[in-house]
Amino acid sequence: MTTKIDLTTKIGNLVFKNPATVASGTFGSKDEYIRYVDYEKLGAIVTKTVTPKLRKGNPMPRIYETPSGMLNAIGLQNKGIDDFIENKIPYFSTILHGGSANLCGGRKIKTHLIVNIAGESIEDFVMLAKKLDREDGVSALELNISCPNVKKGLEFCAKPDLTYDVVKAVKDATKLPIFTKLSPEARDFLGVAEAAIKAGSNALSLINTIRGMAVDIEKCRPQLANVFGGLSGPAIRPIALRYLHEVKREFDIPVMAMGGIMTAQDALEFLITGAHLIAVGTANFVNPKATMEILEGIEDYMKRKSYTSIDKIRGSLKTKQADEKYIPAG
Ligand SMILES: Cc1cc2nc3c(=O)[nH]c(=O)nc-3n(C[C@H](O)[C@H](O)[C@H](O)COP(=O)(O)O)c2cc1C
Repeated sequence: MTTKIDLTTKIGNLVFKNPATVASGTFGSKDEYIRYVDYEKLGAIVTKTVTPKLRKGNPMPRIYETPSGMLNAIGLQNKGIDDFIENKIPYFSTILHGGSANLCGGRKIKTHLIVNIAGESIEDFVMLAKKLDREDGVSALELNISCPNVKKGLEFCAKPDLTYDVVKAVKDATKLPIFTKLSPEARDFLGVAEAAIKAGSNALSLINTIRGMAVDIEKCRPQLANVFGGLSGPAIRPIALRYLHEVKREFDIPVMAMGGIMTAQDALEFLITGAHLIAVGTANFVNPKATMEILEGIEDYMKRKSYTSIDKIRGSLKTKQADEKYIPAG
């Protein structure tokens, strides 16, 4: 007899069939990966950031491969919220009004749709939230208050009070659960996390990319037209794990973790450290089937360890606070 493995993951009222999802901006917003991935096998799909109006993004070149990662400076290219509601949401949901978002009711594609939004002002975020609140095809919002590639984007997560204001305003404008996406660049990272939680964020998404640059030595020019780009991929995984651990140690808040998850082993490191969801980002560009292989690998691990529920793994990290000393430079 084969034992059934239960990957169900709950965040508030949302029930995810498993913890695997994708990181915003690395999986499109519609059918881009449908040839490779059975969307219904994912716990959720997270869209590319949607903004109030069309954004052309930054000039090319805006992607550059680096050791164990990549730099990107896409600049939140998208067609804007009205196009998103008209042309993207209907791909996932037949019933736009009256379905049960919590249980994926009324969906063409039976998985949760988490819409990532960004604006240049609190009013922008509120407007986006109100529009999406009316769409029952949407399960939750992810607030991108942390994009490193746009001029007005980082400010919200740079300081706890700004984070509080934007999250609170969105919370008051929608009944949808909120994931607040944080940047590892915030000086007071835990202060920002706390502010997001106090303002009513239902979960946190950790981490966005880290600003970096690369130089073409023949032309003596930056490799990216934007000069700086966000570093992602395995290069940032230890940093993402560290932030996850710090947040889980301080706060009782579900986390969607991301940062260099390429394999099931990587995903398990985040689950053991306490992540509720694991989002696959840069790996999708290297291996478009990465999410499916990661899910299989998690199940194999659970079988090997005789775990029947993912809850047994989540947060099973053994560490004593007294052991956690950071000694700079070894
Ligand atoms: C090409 C590219 C585009 C991205 N676009 C977005 C975006 O639109 N919104 C957002 O919140 N994060 C965006 N991100 C950040 C990812 O969602 C994720 O936080 C980050 O890449 C770390 O995960 P990874 O190392 O697995 O890629 C983007 C990342 C990449 C590589």
